[in-house]
Amino acid sequence: MSRTVYVNGEYLPEEDAKISVFDRGFLFADGVYEVTSVLGGKLIDFAGHATRLERSLSELEMASPVTSDELLEIHRQLVERNGIEDGLVYLQITRGAADRDFAYPEGVAPSIVLFTQSKPGLADSPKVQEGMKVISIEDQRWGRRDIKTVQLLYPSMGKMAAKKAGADDAWMIEDGFITEGTSNNAYIVKGGTIITRHLGNEILHGITRAAVLRFARESQMQVEERAFTLDEAKDADEAFITSASTFVMPVVDIDGAPVGSGRPGPVALRLREIYLEESRQAAV
Ligand code: PDD
Repeated sequence: MSRTVYVNGEYLPEEDAKISVFDRGFLFADGVYEVTSVLGGKLIDFAGHATRLERSLSELEMASPVTSDELLEIHRQLVERNGIEDGLVYLQITRGAADRDFAYPEGVAPSIVLFTQSKPGLADSPKVQEGMKVISIEDQRWGRRDIKTVQLLYPSMGKMAAKKAGADDAWMIEDGFITEGTSNNAYIVKGGTIITRHLGNEILHGITRAAVLRFARESQMQVEERAFTLDEAKDADEAFITSASTFVMPVVDIDGAPVGSGRPGPVALRLREIYLEESRQAAV
């Protein structure tokens, strides 16, 4: 059975879902996106993703083609029509189709596309017991990583470098400090304190990050939002990542050396448990 995809106001079978070759998302990566997870047929952290989408659009002086109520309705329709129990909803808005010109076109309608990805057992990944391996690479992305744009070539290159090295992902380093993973926020734990980079233009302001830090503080855990080095990470008791598609995932190896015991750590596992429990309860 073919997936139903949403394109510019229509629900279509995926083979009929088409975008113009002049779309600025295709020609200039002039677009933004969000990925929202679905657990038990419900959307996790939807409000956070909708708010960040508005911010990304406004930073690029782009108008939204839909209201946030309409956006929720489209998400729900796709989850229902595609029978998604566990999985992801991908949303992309671009500046629309116009004759190729570096300047933004005027009076052009933005393009909007949403599709689902079914991932049965998304919250029960065996990786949680095993832990992830990461390598470190230089951060060569552009400077506005706080805007969730579709220009993801460098993160793709990082992911491939990790795969070739027999690892799962890459942590990126700028001026001696870790920024984040290719598609996730990075954390270490030292002496019971959770350390993750402070917000700024250098990283994406993760929706999972915001929720996890809130739950950590509510559970009386110590949190420090500051940059940390690769040496600090290698010397940490634990490491982990967060994102909408992995929730909280332990990291057990950096550049071939074990982190702490080399096994998923108790802080990461506890935070994952709390995050999943609270988010399922608040899911819409
Ligand atoms: N990526 N940092 C980067 C560079 C990301 O691409 C992502 C998300 C995150 C985590 O943000 P959040 O917690 O809001 O998912 C951090 C998504 C999942 C993706 O591109 O598939």
